[in-house]
Amino acid sequence: MKLFIDTANIAKVEEISAWGILDGVTTNPSLVAKEEGADFKETVINMCGLVNEVSAQITATEFPEMKAQADVYSSWHKNVVVKVPMTVEGLKTLNYCSSKGIHTNTTLVFSVPQAIMAAKSGATMISPFVGRLDDLGMDGMDLIADIMEAWNHYKFETQVLVASIRNLEHVVRAATLGAHICTIPYDVFLELPQHDLTDKGLKKFMEDWESISN
Ligand code: G3P
Repeated sequence: MKLFIDTANIAKVEEISAWGILDGVTTNPSLVAKEEGADFKETVINMCGLVNEVSAQITATEFPEMKAQADVYSSWHKNVVVKVPMTVEGLKTLNYCSSKGIHTNTTLVFSVPQAIMAAKSGATMISPFVGRLDDLGMDGMDLIADIMEAWNHYKFETQVLVASIRNLEHVVRAATLGAHICTIPYDVFLELPQHDLTDKGLKKFMEDWESISN
């Protein structure tokens, strides 16, 4: 499973990429807006120097402008993945990008039919938002289970990227369902290597070592 970080903060990408397990970054306009003063293009290019796949979201809503934006973003660096919203105009853009060899991530996916349409349009990845379904009292991971079940019947090459992750349990369930990628917020990322029994066990090993090496 690929691990992405969901942030537009370059320092956080630098910190986690130094662990050696980070495959990519996803950004979106809301995350970019949190990084006041940072230049978007420069941030994306710098992130591309740290990881293999960086999603940069286009903001146009009509196909001609979306297509033009996709061309611009993909010209910045070979590691740019153009993030395209799940709309009819977005489907046209995905088809265009696919024909040009531009990698894409379809964002704001909330249903199996949306997932299938994005895959048929040649999307490299789709991003179902699990946390936002949880927010509505649903179980967002059910959508991932349904999409993975559908994927088992066909030969879609489109990777399923679990987005809007809020906790470790989302990551665990994504892995057990065989999702291809998780994009994880920084705070949840910091929890991934942690376990109380690891801390306790290490403390005991250190104490025992001290007792014999004095
Ligand atoms: O990358 C998009 C997605 O992860 C957004 O998450 O927490 O705003 O629902 P959230």
